[in-house]
Amino acid sequence: MSPAELDKLLSCVTATTDPNLLVGIRTHDDAAVYRLPSGEAVIQTVDFFTPVVDDPYTWGAIAAANSLSDIYAMNGRPLFALNIACFPKKLPMELWCEVLRGGADKAREAGVVVAGGHTVDDPEPKYGLVVTGLIDPRTMWTHEGARPGDALVLTKPLGSGIISTALRAGKISMETARPMIQVMLELNRAAAEILSHFDVHACTDITGNGLLGHAAEIARTSKVKLEMTMGKVPILELAHSLSETGPFPGGTWANREYLQAFVSYPENFAENKILLLCDAQTSGGLLAVLPENQAKEAVHKLWNAGMKWSAIIGRSLEGEGIQIIS
Ligand code: CO
Ligand code: CO
Ligand code: CO
Repeated sequence: MSPAELDKLLSCVTATTDPNLLVGIRTHDDAAVYRLPSGEAVIQTVDFFTPVVDDPYTWGAIAAANSLSDIYAMNGRPLFALNIACFPKKLPMELWCEVLRGGADKAREAGVVVAGGHTVDDPEPKYGLVVTGLIDPRTMWTHEGARPGDALVLTKPLGSGIISTALRAGKISMETARPMIQVMLELNRAAAEILSHFDVHACTDITGNGLLGHAAEIARTSKVKLEMTMGKVPILELAHSLSETGPFPGGTWANREYLQAFVSYPENFAENKILLLCDAQTSGGLLAVLPENQAKEAVHKLWNAGMKWSAIIGRSLEGEGIQIIS
C-alpha cells in the first residue's frame, strides 16, 4: 500500500482515547506500545508479505527478520510471535513447512518463540509474524525527538526492492543476489543493542516506504529538516547497476510520487538515484538519529560488530522536508 493510500485508510479509523496506549496508529510509528498496570509496556507489531525470493525457507526467515525489525526499531525486546500466513492449497505442504521452519529458526535466533498462528487458503502466498515484546517507555525510540544538529546513521545498504524484483523476473540468479539476501536475513537486534548505549533521539527501520519515506516520517513527527548526502548512503553495487535499466517495484514508484513535494534534489540529479533512495525495502536497516558528537563512535562500534555497511548519511537541521545533496 502506498503511503498516500495508508493516510486515507487511517482517516477511517476512529482515534481511541485509552491513556495507556503510549504509541498508536496516528504517528505512523513502527509498532504499538501499551502500558501495563505494572508500569512496564507491551510492544506489538504485525507484518506479512508475498515471497521476495524463490526459496521457501529463506523467504520465511527474511519475513521473520522483517517482522521482528519493528520491535528493534523502537528499542523493544521481542518475546514471542504468531505466524500469519496465506497459503495456496494447491501447493505441496512440504513447501509451507519450509516457510514456517525458516520463520521459526530466525525467531529462535532472536530468542523469540513462535507460539502459534493462523493460516488461510489464498491463491497468492503471504507470510509474516505478529510479534509481541516488552519495552521501557523511558528508553523507547519513536519518530519524534530528532533535534537540529543530530546526525543520521543507517545500518544496512539499500537495494532489496530492485534486486528482488530482478530476481523474481529471472534477470539475475539467487547466487548473484546472495549479498542482498544476506542483508535481508540479518536481524536488527545487534544494531539496536549497540545503538541503545547512545542517546538515540529518534529511530525507525527501513522497509516498504524506502529510505526517504521512513526518513520523512521522522522529519514530519520531529518537525525538523533532514539533509542526506547521496554519496554517503550505502547502496549495494548490484542495485546501482540494475537501477540503470530497472524495473523498479511498484512500491518504489509510489514512494517516489508520494514524496515528490517533500524532498528536494540537486539540479540534474539522475532519476535512477532518486528511485534508489525511494526503493521499497524488505528487512532494511535502522535509521537512527543521535547527537553528532556520538555518531562516529556509534558507527565505529557497529563496524567492529561486523555491520560494515553502517554509515553517517546526513544530519538534522531546523526547517522541514528532506534535502538531498550530492
Ligand atoms: Co517499521
Ligand atoms: Co512494520
Ligand atoms: Co518507521
